[in-house]
Amino acid sequence: MTDLLRVENIHTFIGQFHILEGVSLSVPAGSITALLGRNGAGKTTTLRSIIGLLSPRAGRIMLDGREIQGRPAYDIAALGIGYVPEHRAVFRDLTVEENLKIAERRKGDLDRRSDLIFDLFPDLKRFIRLPGGQLSGGQQQMLSIARVLVADNRLLLIDEPSEGLAPVIVENIIEALRRLSDHTTVLLVEQNFRMAAQLADRYYILDDGQSVQSGQMAELARDGALVAKYLGAG
Ligand SMILES: Nc1ncnc2c1ncn2[C@@H]1O[C@H](COP(=O)(O)OP(=O)(O)O)[C@@H](O)[C@H]1O
Ligand SMILES: [Mg+2]
Repeated sequence: MTDLLRVENIHTFIGQFHILEGVSLSVPAGSITALLGRNGAGKTTTLRSIIGLLSPRAGRIMLDGREIQGRPAYDIAALGIGYVPEHRAVFRDLTVEENLKIAERRKGDLDRRSDLIFDLFPDLKRFIRLPGGQLSGGQQQMLSIARVLVADNRLLLIDEPSEGLAPVIVENIIEALRRLSDHTTVLLVEQNFRMAAQLADRYYILDDGQSVQSGQMAELARDGALVAKYLGAG
């Protein structure tokens, strides 16, 4: 398999703080890769570095063999990377439809993708005229994921989609991501190890801003000691 995304030894600062001190990972096309690690390990900072909201001071980020680090976020997004941030960031005063519409990159994107989106997330169709702020947490997460499906993205960066959601809703999100992975490539940040284990083929673990471990998800799932060491109570 070829790597759609390669992150090579990036160092990212926030203000004067050296947050990422050598993060490397690769994401093969057509798979889900999990990015794991304790709270504060640098997972969100890694995603923000890839999408260009933070600019790494050293290292390389390659999309399909092309260096993208240091470019502005809108440029990087336009290459076909969709970012689903932590805490969902749905526009509360816009309707579901408006939230989707503003995610268009080209006119007609939403019409072209609406079958896929509403098939994955039927609730969004039911509540299409409702303001985003009136959706449940789970529905807001679905809307947040749906927004990156509107445009034609090759790679999705999804940050903790299960956060704060009831187990039954998490199951729905797992199912949707599983179906999605037939169409696209995902780098998934998750604290919910069980969710990551169900979805991902490969994993990377960050600890204190550094890549410390990687491999096949199925092997990690069997290695309780490793899970406990880097991810806390497994
Ligand atoms: N705006 C900021 N200013 C200073 N430190 C920050 C800022 N944002 C994040 N950090 C620090 O960077 C580290 C990594 O954070 P983050 O990438 O959000 O971790 P994770 O997503 O793995 O929980 C943490 O120690 C956090 O405190
Ligand atoms: Mg985070």
